[in-house]
Amino acid sequence: MSQRSKHLPRRSCLSTPGSSDRFLAKAPTAKADFSFLDLEDAVAPNEKVAARAKVVNAIRTLDWDDRVLCVRVNAWDTVWTYGDVIEVVGNAGTRLDEIMMPKVQSAAEVVAMDLLLTQVEKNSGLPVGHIGLECQIETAQGLINVEEICAASPRIESIVFGPADFAASIGMPVTTIDETIHTAQPSNPFSYVFAKILMAGRANGLHVIDGPFLKVRDLDALRLAAGVSASYGYDGKWALTPDQALVLNEVYSPSQDMFDKSFDILDIYKVATEQDGTGALMMGDEMIDEASAKIAQSFVTRGERSGMKRSPK
Ligand code: GLV
Ligand code: MG
Repeated sequence: MSQRSKHLPRRSCLSTPGSSDRFLAKAPTAKADFSFLDLEDAVAPNEKVAARAKVVNAIRTLDWDDRVLCVRVNAWDTVWTYGDVIEVVGNAGTRLDEIMMPKVQSAAEVVAMDLLLTQVEKNSGLPVGHIGLECQIETAQGLINVEEICAASPRIESIVFGPADFAASIGMPVTTIDETIHTAQPSNPFSYVFAKILMAGRANGLHVIDGPFLKVRDLDALRLAAGVSASYGYDGKWALTPDQALVLNEVYSPSQDMFDKSFDILDIYKVATEQDGTGALMMGDEMIDEASAKIAQSFVTRGERSGMKRSPK
């Protein structure tokens, strides 16, 4: 895994078509935690090969500040995957943090990518293990195998839900990806999907990311949908525009109140356990114990990762 990117936030993951010089030039100006340059579904088949050099050039010449930088290659069932990896990883230099694998169906695909990356890293003078992986779950088969997929390589940093391809794979009667899949009632098959991917990811210490929202002009509906996956515990969601990224940065950060309260819980709990010898205590009208301290610590970590500061007392 990439030591640099593993612990960086991924509240907003901006997608940029790798075939468009104009969009590539604009991508670093968006306020996104994570940028991926796409060689897969946002690039037409007859542009796929030419897009590789554009992506390499963008990685090498643009200022990506300290955001996580990733390239989505084509899936193993196409003719482009190995060429994408050899040309992009072989020439991009150390600023490239990760490769994203779409439509991952089995752990074997991840192992194959890991082996190929090791050879490309050795041949291009990169430290072995430099390139991390993001795996997209976008098919019924991928979902069934998600637990093995998440454990298939130490390079994996994130597991990502791909709702558009997934809806196609399972035959959902939808023509776009809007808030419907997050909020459908009373029995929402996607709640199982969201929970299963989250459990597999967390069991392996991964970031867990929600996919794109295609009604790009409806930011209120995006906020609603993102709020649902954030309430499960997801770390972030794809952004297709810079405006979507701004909404996501807010939704996937703890509120300042929650962040401050988490510090208060940790402070009180420390005094109780270390000085008073008490394991459970009251803070106002809420009981605090070891589990509360763990929850609080996760908010502190998440907020600090996003650059938040505790309010002065
Ligand atoms: C993303 O790749 C999706 O299919 O939703
Ligand atoms: Mg997809």
